[in-house]
Amino acid sequence: MPNLLILGGTTEANALVKSVAEQGIPATYSYAGRVDSPRPQPVPTRVGGFGGAEGLARYIREHGISHIVDATHPFAAQMSSNAVEACITTATPLAALTRPAWVAQQGDDWQHVSDIEGAVDALSGPARRVFLAVGRMHLLDFAAQPQHHYLLRLVDEPETVPLPNRDILVSRGPFTVEDDRALMLRHGTQLVVSKNAGGTGARAKLDAARALGLPVLMIDRPVMPQRTELTNVAQVLDWLAHT
Ligand SMILES: NC(=O)c1ccc[n+]([C@@H]2O[C@H](COP(=O)([O-])OP(=O)(O)OC[C@H]3O[C@@H](n4cnc5c(N)ncnc54)[C@H](OP(=O)(O)O)[C@@H]3O)[C@@H](O)[C@H]2O)c1
Repeated sequence: MPNLLILGGTTEANALVKSVAEQGIPATYSYAGRVDSPRPQPVPTRVGGFGGAEGLARYIREHGISHIVDATHPFAAQMSSNAVEACITTATPLAALTRPAWVAQQGDDWQHVSDIEGAVDALSGPARRVFLAVGRMHLLDFAAQPQHHYLLRLVDEPETVPLPNRDILVSRGPFTVEDDRALMLRHGTQLVVSKNAGGTGARAKLDAARALGLPVLMIDRPVMPQRTELTNVAQVLDWLAHT
């Protein structure tokens, strides 16, 4: 019987753990601990960092982990590279549950930047009303462009926000196109800043931006180390059964 560790924190990880639990596969779901009250899961959960690749390798040995599925967000590059390293060290099979990046379609007006720093640079210029949909981790970077009015949508009420002009909406996805369209209209949004997360959970804002003819500043994904990449839950279950 496998003993699976799922590195989670995403809609995709939630879908995987549901199927794993239904099949009775022993598993643990790992959260980084970034949000105040993580969703309950149908398998035991653990919360918090492992202590780098070494800490994860130790965890694997101490808990008899047989397989790891890295279902973290495509921008969680540190965790993903730690997982690759720890799995090499401990000879543990690793697969990533990934989602294809979003691709612009007809009617989209996207400007691509390669990282957060690129997005901050691209925001130099006159004040605009910006829907900054990048999560709370990088807000400080955007303090370098304080002239804009920012709309922030965050999972938890933040303690401090380093942006002088902002509206904060505390809400947890997934979101609908209709709601995001209404939100942007209500806030007079002129530009959307988004990470290229892929998947369905956060896609609505892009469809809403297209419908409203709004430009999007799209932050491309960080490069990930080489690893087995699977794109749906069925593939992961098959990999688990055969690896
Ligand atoms: N980055 C995003 O835009 C984004 C969006 C939505 C959800 N998330 C989720 O939020 C979490 C953190 O993302 P991040 O971008 O801050 O990651 P990151 O920069 O790659 O990770 C930083 C550190 O956080 C710990 N960590 C990250 N994910 C973990 C997990 N699932 N379980 C245990 N420890 C974890 C690890 O600490 P140690 O080195 O101590 O092990 C890791 O080295 C992930 O679960 C990710 O799926 C991220």
